[in-house]
Amino acid sequence: MNITNNAQANSHQHHLSLLLVYLQLHEYRFTTISPASHAKVNSRIENAEANDLIGIFGWNRPFKRDIIDAKLFDLMQAADIAVRVGRLWKSRLRVSSMNGLLFLHSAFPTVENEAVFFGPDSYRFANVIHQFFASHPPPIHRAVDIGTGSGLGAILLALALKAPEANPDIIAVDINEYALNLARVNMSDADIHHIQLVNSNLLSSVGGNFDLIIANPPYLIDKSERTYRHGGGHLGADLSLAILATAIERLNPGGTLLLYTGIAIVNGHDAFLAEATERLILAGFTLTYSEIDPDIFGEELESEAYSSADRIAAVVLAARKLAQKSRIVHFKPSIKKQVFINTTAAR
Ligand SMILES: C[S@@+](CC[C@H](N)C(=O)[O-])C[C@H]1O[C@@H](n2cnc3c(N)ncnc32)[C@H](O)[C@@H]1O
Repeated sequence: MNITNNAQANSHQHHLSLLLVYLQLHEYRFTTISPASHAKVNSRIENAEANDLIGIFGWNRPFKRDIIDAKLFDLMQAADIAVRVGRLWKSRLRVSSMNGLLFLHSAFPTVENEAVFFGPDSYRFANVIHQFFASHPPPIHRAVDIGTGSGLGAILLALALKAPEANPDIIAVDINEYALNLARVNMSDADIHHIQLVNSNLLSSVGGNFDLIIANPPYLIDKSERTYRHGGGHLGADLSLAILATAIERLNPGGTLLLYTGIAIVNGHDAFLAEATERLILAGFTLTYSEIDPDIFGEELESEAYSSADRIAAVVLAARKLAQKSRIVHFKPSIKKQVFINTTAAR
Protein backbone atom coordinates (compact mmCIF):
# COMPACT_ATOMS: atom_id res chain seq x y z
CA MET A 1 0.00 0.00 0.00
CA ASN A 2 1.47 3.42 -0.96
CA ILE A 3 1.35 6.60 1.16
CA THR A 4 -1.76 8.00 -0.59
CA ASN A 5 -3.65 4.72 -0.14
CA ASN A 6 -2.56 4.59 3.48
CA ALA A 7 -3.76 8.12 4.17
CA GLN A 8 -7.07 7.33 2.46
CA ALA A 9 -7.53 4.13 4.51
CA ASN A 10 -6.78 6.07 7.72
CA SER A 11 -9.27 8.74 6.76
CA HIS A 12 -11.95 6.10 6.04
CA GLN A 13 -11.29 4.43 9.39
CA HIS A 14 -11.46 7.79 11.19
CA HIS A 15 -14.86 8.54 9.62
CA LEU A 16 -16.12 5.01 10.38
CA SER A 17 -15.20 5.64 14.03
CA LEU A 18 -17.21 8.87 13.95
CA LEU A 19 -20.11 6.98 12.37
CA LEU A 20 -20.13 4.51 15.29
CA VAL A 21 -20.05 7.41 17.75
CA TYR A 22 -23.07 8.88 15.94
CA LEU A 23 -24.91 5.54 16.16
CA GLN A 24 -24.03 5.14 19.85
CA LEU A 25 -25.40 8.64 20.54
CA HIS A 26 -28.64 7.61 18.84
CA GLU A 27 -28.78 4.39 20.89
CA TYR A 28 -28.66 2.27 17.74
CA ARG A 29 -29.24 -1.46 18.35
CA PHE A 30 -29.59 -4.30 15.84
CA THR A 31 -29.32 -8.09 16.17
CA THR A 32 -28.13 -9.76 12.98
CA ILE A 33 -30.01 -12.92 12.02
CA SER A 34 -29.20 -15.69 9.53
CA PRO A 35 -28.91 -14.75 5.82
CA ALA A 36 -31.99 -16.86 4.98
CA SER A 37 -34.16 -15.08 7.60
CA HIS A 38 -32.70 -11.68 6.70
CA ALA A 39 -33.62 -12.20 3.03
CA LYS A 40 -37.18 -13.25 3.98
CA VAL A 41 -37.78 -10.17 6.13
CA ASN A 42 -36.30 -7.81 3.51
CA SER A 43 -38.43 -9.34 0.74
CA ARG A 44 -41.67 -8.09 2.34
CA ILE A 45 -43.12 -5.35 0.18
CA GLU A 46 -43.18 -2.81 3.01
CA ASN A 47 -39.43 -3.38 3.55
CA ALA A 48 -38.26 -2.39 0.08
CA GLU A 49 -36.71 0.83 1.43
CA ALA A 50 -35.18 1.86 4.75
CA ASN A 51 -36.82 4.60 6.74
CA ASP A 52 -34.59 4.71 9.82
CA LEU A 53 -31.05 3.92 11.04
CA ILE A 54 -31.90 0.26 11.66
CA GLY A 55 -33.22 -0.04 8.12
CA ILE A 56 -30.01 1.45 6.70
CA PHE A 57 -27.30 -0.18 8.84
CA GLY A 58 -29.05 -3.27 10.21
CA TRP A 59 -31.37 -4.51 7.47
CA ASN A 60 -29.12 -2.80 4.92
CA ARG A 61 -32.01 -1.61 2.73
CA PRO A 62 -31.66 1.11 0.10
CA PHE A 63 -32.67 4.56 1.34
CA LYS A 64 -33.58 8.03 0.10
CA ARG A 65 -30.89 10.61 0.72
CA ASP A 66 -33.24 12.93 2.65
CA ILE A 67 -34.33 10.45 5.36
CA ILE A 68 -31.05 10.94 7.27
CA ASP A 69 -29.46 14.12 8.51
CA ALA A 70 -26.82 15.75 6.33
CA LYS A 71 -24.08 15.19 8.94
CA LEU A 72 -24.58 11.42 8.85
CA PHE A 73 -24.67 11.30 5.06
CA ASP A 74 -21.42 13.34 4.91
CA LEU A 75 -19.83 10.83 7.30
CA MET A 76 -20.94 7.93 5.12
CA GLN A 77 -19.45 9.60 2.06
CA ALA A 78 -16.20 10.48 3.84
CA ALA A 79 -15.94 6.83 4.95
CA ASP A 80 -16.70 5.76 1.37
CA ILE A 81 -19.65 3.55 2.35
CA ALA A 82 -22.52 5.35 0.59
CA VAL A 83 -23.23 3.59 -2.70
CA ARG A 84 -25.74 4.74 -5.31
CA VAL A 85 -28.47 2.23 -6.23
CA GLY A 86 -30.50 3.92 -8.98
CA ARG A 87 -32.20 6.94 -7.38
CA LEU A 88 -31.50 5.55 -3.90
CA TRP A 89 -28.40 4.94 -1.73
CA LYS A 90 -27.18 1.87 0.16
CA SER A 91 -24.57 1.41 2.90
CA ARG A 92 -21.53 -0.67 1.97
CA LEU A 93 -21.29 -1.78 5.63
CA ARG A 94 -23.70 -3.01 8.26
CA VAL A 95 -23.61 -2.46 12.02
CA SER A 96 -24.67 -5.08 14.58
CA SER A 97 -24.95 -4.67 18.33
CA MET A 98 -24.21 -6.94 21.25
CA ASN A 99 -24.63 -5.83 24.87
CA GLY A 100 -24.17 -2.18 23.91
CA LEU A 101 -21.10 -2.85 21.74
CA LEU A 102 -21.30 -2.00 18.03
CA PHE A 103 -19.66 -4.02 15.24
CA LEU A 104 -19.11 -2.86 11.66
CA HIS A 105 -19.24 -5.73 9.16
CA SER A 106 -19.99 -6.35 5.49
CA ALA A 107 -23.13 -5.44 3.56
CA PHE A 108 -25.97 -7.89 2.94
CA PRO A 109 -25.74 -10.23 1.15
CA THR A 110 -22.13 -11.16 1.95
CA VAL A 111 -21.14 -12.27 -1.53
CA GLU A 112 -17.54 -11.02 -1.80
CA ASN A 113 -14.62 -13.25 -0.98
CA GLU A 114 -13.29 -10.63 1.46
CA ALA A 115 -16.62 -10.14 3.26
CA VAL A 116 -16.32 -9.48 6.99
CA PHE A 117 -18.64 -11.76 8.95
CA PHE A 118 -20.96 -11.07 11.89
CA GLY A 119 -24.06 -13.24 12.49
CA PRO A 120 -25.83 -15.74 14.75
CA ASP A 121 -22.56 -17.71 15.11
CA SER A 122 -20.97 -14.57 16.59
CA TYR A 123 -23.68 -14.39 19.29
CA ARG A 124 -23.24 -18.09 20.09
CA PHE A 125 -19.44 -17.69 20.18
CA ALA A 126 -19.83 -14.72 22.55
CA ASN A 127 -21.95 -16.87 24.92
CA VAL A 128 -19.24 -19.54 24.89
CA ILE A 129 -16.63 -16.92 25.86
CA HIS A 130 -18.85 -15.53 28.65
CA GLN A 131 -19.44 -19.00 30.06
CA PHE A 132 -15.73 -19.77 29.97
CA PHE A 133 -14.89 -16.69 32.03
CA ALA A 134 -17.82 -17.34 34.39
CA SER A 135 -16.15 -20.68 35.21
CA HIS A 136 -13.13 -18.88 36.78
CA PRO A 137 -10.33 -20.04 34.48
CA PRO A 138 -6.69 -19.93 35.64
CA PRO A 139 -4.77 -16.64 35.11
CA ILE A 140 -4.34 -15.70 31.46
CA HIS A 141 -1.26 -13.67 30.49
CA ARG A 142 -1.34 -14.18 26.73
CA ALA A 143 -4.40 -14.90 24.57
CA VAL A 144 -5.25 -14.97 20.87
CA ASP A 145 -8.46 -14.84 18.85
CA ILE A 146 -7.91 -16.74 15.57
CA GLY A 147 -10.09 -15.47 12.70
CA THR A 148 -11.20 -12.40 14.59
CA GLY A 149 -13.41 -10.99 11.79
CA SER A 150 -15.07 -7.90 13.28
CA GLY A 151 -12.82 -8.25 16.35
CA LEU A 152 -15.62 -9.65 18.52
CA GLY A 153 -13.71 -12.45 20.30
CA ALA A 154 -10.66 -10.31 21.05
CA ILE A 155 -12.84 -7.46 22.35
CA LEU A 156 -14.67 -9.84 24.70
CA LEU A 157 -11.31 -11.22 25.87
CA ALA A 158 -10.08 -7.70 26.58
CA LEU A 159 -13.24 -6.89 28.53
CA ALA A 160 -13.12 -10.15 30.51
CA LEU A 161 -9.43 -9.67 31.37
CA LYS A 162 -9.82 -6.04 32.32
CA ALA A 163 -8.98 -6.33 36.04
CA PRO A 164 -6.73 -3.39 37.00
CA GLU A 165 -3.82 -5.59 38.04
CA ALA A 166 -3.91 -7.68 34.85
CA ASN A 167 -1.97 -6.58 31.82
CA PRO A 168 -2.61 -9.43 29.39
CA ASP A 169 -1.16 -9.62 25.94
CA ILE A 170 -4.13 -10.02 23.56
CA ILE A 171 -3.68 -10.72 19.86
CA ALA A 172 -6.33 -10.82 17.14
CA VAL A 173 -5.40 -12.52 13.88
CA ASP A 174 -7.18 -12.79 10.56
CA ILE A 175 -6.15 -13.71 7.05
CA ASN A 176 -8.40 -10.94 5.69
CA GLU A 177 -6.81 -7.48 5.90
CA TYR A 178 -10.17 -5.75 5.47
CA ALA A 179 -11.50 -7.61 8.53
CA LEU A 180 -8.54 -6.31 10.54
CA ASN A 181 -9.31 -2.74 9.40
CA LEU A 182 -12.92 -3.00 10.58
CA ALA A 183 -11.86 -4.78 13.79
CA ARG A 184 -9.55 -1.82 14.55
CA VAL A 185 -12.50 0.59 14.31
CA ASN A 186 -14.76 -1.69 16.39
CA MET A 187 -12.07 -1.99 19.08
CA SER A 188 -11.65 1.75 19.24
CA ASP A 189 -15.44 2.16 19.63
CA ALA A 190 -15.30 -0.31 22.54
CA ASP A 191 -12.51 1.89 24.03
CA ILE A 192 -10.03 -0.95 23.75
CA HIS A 193 -6.64 0.07 22.43
CA HIS A 194 -4.17 -2.61 23.50
CA ILE A 195 -5.10 -5.51 21.20
CA GLN A 196 -2.43 -6.37 18.63
CA LEU A 197 -3.94 -7.01 15.17
CA VAL A 198 -1.95 -9.32 12.92
CA ASN A 199 -2.56 -10.49 9.36
CA SER A 200 -1.80 -14.17 9.73
CA ASN A 201 -2.79 -17.58 8.40
CA LEU A 202 -3.72 -19.13 11.77
CA LEU A 203 -0.66 -18.40 13.97
CA SER A 204 1.99 -18.64 11.24
CA SER A 205 2.93 -14.93 11.56
CA VAL A 206 2.73 -14.78 15.36
CA GLY A 207 5.45 -16.07 17.67
CA GLY A 208 5.33 -17.56 21.17
CA ASN A 209 2.87 -19.60 23.18
CA PHE A 210 -0.51 -18.82 24.69
CA ASP A 211 -2.59 -19.45 27.81
CA LEU A 212 -5.81 -19.17 25.81
CA ILE A 213 -6.64 -19.67 22.13
CA ILE A 214 -10.19 -18.92 21.01
CA ALA A 215 -11.68 -19.32 17.53
CA ASN A 216 -14.92 -19.32 15.56
CA PRO A 217 -13.50 -20.44 12.20
CA PRO A 218 -15.26 -20.99 8.86
CA TYR A 219 -16.70 -24.51 8.88
CA LEU A 220 -18.90 -24.94 5.81
CA ILE A 221 -18.22 -26.23 2.32
CA ASP A 222 -18.75 -23.03 0.38
CA LYS A 223 -18.90 -23.40 -3.42
CA SER A 224 -17.24 -20.03 -4.00
CA GLU A 225 -14.76 -20.65 -1.14
CA ARG A 226 -15.37 -17.32 0.61
CA THR A 227 -12.75 -16.77 3.30
CA TYR A 228 -15.22 -16.21 6.14
CA ARG A 229 -17.25 -19.31 5.27
CA HIS A 230 -15.18 -22.07 3.67
CA GLY A 231 -13.68 -24.55 6.13
CA GLY A 232 -12.12 -26.84 3.54
CA GLY A 233 -11.72 -30.61 3.48
CA HIS A 234 -14.41 -33.22 3.05
CA LEU A 235 -17.18 -31.59 5.09
CA GLY A 236 -15.71 -28.25 6.12
CA ALA A 237 -13.77 -29.42 9.20
CA ASP A 238 -10.21 -28.91 7.91
CA LEU A 239 -9.67 -25.47 9.38
CA SER A 240 -11.08 -26.57 12.77
CA LEU A 241 -8.64 -29.50 12.76
CA ALA A 242 -5.77 -27.15 11.79
CA ILE A 243 -6.65 -24.91 14.74
CA LEU A 244 -6.62 -27.97 16.98
CA ALA A 245 -3.12 -28.88 15.72
CA THR A 246 -1.97 -25.27 16.28
CA ALA A 247 -3.31 -25.31 19.83
CA ILE A 248 -1.56 -28.60 20.61
CA GLU A 249 1.69 -26.99 19.52
CA ARG A 250 1.27 -23.45 20.83
CA LEU A 251 -0.57 -23.67 24.17
CA ASN A 252 1.37 -23.31 27.40
CA PRO A 253 0.97 -26.14 29.94
CA GLY A 254 -2.36 -25.47 31.67
CA GLY A 255 -3.54 -23.45 28.65
CA THR A 256 -6.96 -23.78 26.99
CA LEU A 257 -8.33 -23.98 23.46
CA LEU A 258 -11.90 -22.73 23.20
CA LEU A 259 -13.20 -23.65 19.76
CA TYR A 260 -16.72 -22.87 18.56
CA THR A 261 -17.43 -24.52 15.23
CA GLY A 262 -19.99 -26.32 13.06
CA ILE A 263 -19.72 -30.01 12.30
CA ALA A 264 -21.52 -32.15 9.72
CA ILE A 265 -22.98 -35.27 11.34
CA VAL A 266 -23.07 -38.24 8.96
CA ASN A 267 -25.18 -41.31 9.82
CA GLY A 268 -25.25 -40.14 13.43
CA HIS A 269 -21.45 -40.02 13.56
CA ASP A 270 -19.33 -37.00 14.47
CA ALA A 271 -16.00 -37.65 12.72
CA PHE A 272 -14.52 -34.40 14.06
CA LEU A 273 -15.13 -35.44 17.67
CA ALA A 274 -13.50 -38.84 17.06
CA GLU A 275 -10.42 -37.29 15.44
CA ALA A 276 -10.12 -34.42 17.93
CA THR A 277 -10.45 -36.73 20.94
CA GLU A 278 -7.71 -39.03 19.71
CA ARG A 279 -5.30 -36.22 18.86
CA LEU A 280 -5.90 -34.30 22.09
CA ILE A 281 -5.63 -37.29 24.39
CA LEU A 282 -2.37 -38.37 22.75
CA ALA A 283 -1.04 -34.83 23.19
CA GLY A 284 -1.89 -34.79 26.91
CA PHE A 285 -5.08 -32.71 26.96
CA THR A 286 -8.38 -33.06 28.78
CA LEU A 287 -11.45 -31.98 26.88
CA THR A 288 -15.13 -31.22 27.08
CA TYR A 289 -17.30 -31.23 23.98
CA SER A 290 -20.87 -30.00 23.72
CA GLU A 291 -23.40 -29.70 20.95
CA ILE A 292 -25.00 -26.35 21.64
CA ASP A 293 -27.36 -26.44 18.66
CA PRO A 294 -28.16 -29.72 16.85
CA ASP A 295 -29.30 -28.15 13.57
CA ILE A 296 -27.82 -25.02 11.96
CA PHE A 297 -27.62 -24.02 8.27
CA GLY A 298 -30.30 -26.63 7.41
CA GLU A 299 -30.56 -25.13 3.91
CA GLU A 300 -27.00 -26.36 3.15
CA LEU A 301 -28.26 -29.98 3.26
CA GLU A 302 -29.81 -29.40 -0.17
CA SER A 303 -26.35 -29.00 -1.74
CA GLU A 304 -24.34 -31.82 -3.32
CA ALA A 305 -21.48 -31.33 -0.83
CA TYR A 306 -23.79 -32.27 2.07
CA SER A 307 -25.64 -35.12 0.36
CA SER A 308 -24.35 -37.61 2.95
CA ALA A 309 -24.93 -35.41 6.02
CA ASP A 310 -27.86 -35.77 8.47
CA ARG A 311 -27.37 -32.29 9.89
CA ILE A 312 -24.85 -29.61 10.79
CA ALA A 313 -24.40 -29.08 14.54
CA ALA A 314 -22.92 -26.10 16.38
CA VAL A 315 -20.36 -27.49 18.83
CA VAL A 316 -17.96 -26.20 21.46
CA LEU A 317 -14.67 -27.91 22.14
CA ALA A 318 -12.81 -26.80 25.27
CA ALA A 319 -9.43 -28.54 25.55
CA ARG A 320 -6.90 -28.02 28.31
CA LYS A 321 -3.24 -28.93 28.09
CA LEU A 322 -2.20 -30.73 31.25
CA ALA A 323 0.11 -28.66 33.41
CA GLN A 324 2.69 -31.38 34.08
CA LYS A 325 4.12 -33.73 31.51
CA SER A 326 4.57 -36.51 34.06
CA ARG A 327 0.80 -36.72 34.46
CA ILE A 328 0.43 -37.57 30.78
CA VAL A 329 2.18 -40.91 31.23
CA HIS A 330 -0.18 -41.80 34.04
CA PHE A 331 -3.09 -40.39 32.07
CA LYS A 332 -2.92 -42.55 28.93
CA PRO A 333 -4.34 -45.84 30.27
CA SER A 334 -7.40 -44.18 31.76
CA ILE A 335 -8.29 -41.92 28.87
CA LYS A 336 -12.06 -42.37 29.15
CA LYS A 337 -12.19 -41.22 32.77
CA GLN A 338 -10.32 -38.04 31.91
CA VAL A 339 -12.59 -36.99 29.09
CA PHE A 340 -15.93 -35.40 29.77
CA ILE A 341 -17.92 -35.42 26.59
CA ASN A 342 -21.24 -33.72 26.91
CA THR A 343 -23.11 -34.17 23.67
CA THR A 344 -26.48 -33.12 25.05
CA ALA A 345 -27.94 -30.70 22.56
CA ALA A 346 -29.52 -27.42 23.65
CA ARG A 347 -33.27 -27.31 23.02
C1 LIG B 1 -16.93 -17.25 10.69
S1 LIG B 1 -15.86 -15.88 10.67
C2 LIG B 1 -15.81 -15.50 12.43
C3 LIG B 1 -15.51 -14.07 12.74
C4 LIG B 1 -15.56 -13.71 14.23
N1 LIG B 1 -14.61 -14.51 14.98
C5 LIG B 1 -16.94 -13.91 14.79
O1 LIG B 1 -17.15 -14.78 15.62
O2 LIG B 1 -17.83 -13.14 14.41
C6 LIG B 1 -14.28 -16.65 10.39
C7 LIG B 1 -13.09 -15.68 10.28
O3 LIG B 1 -11.90 -16.46 10.11
C8 LIG B 1 -11.05 -15.82 9.16
N2 LIG B 1 -10.14 -16.84 8.58
C9 LIG B 1 -10.42 -17.77 7.64
N3 LIG B 1 -9.34 -18.54 7.39
C10 LIG B 1 -8.34 -18.09 8.22
C11 LIG B 1 -6.99 -18.48 8.43
N4 LIG B 1 -6.46 -19.50 7.77
N5 LIG B 1 -6.27 -17.78 9.33
C12 LIG B 1 -6.81 -16.74 10.02
N6 LIG B 1 -8.09 -16.32 9.85
C13 LIG B 1 -8.85 -16.99 8.97
C14 LIG B 1 -12.02 -15.20 8.16
O4 LIG B 1 -11.41 -14.17 7.41
C15 LIG B 1 -13.14 -14.73 9.09
O5 LIG B 1 -12.92 -13.41 9.53
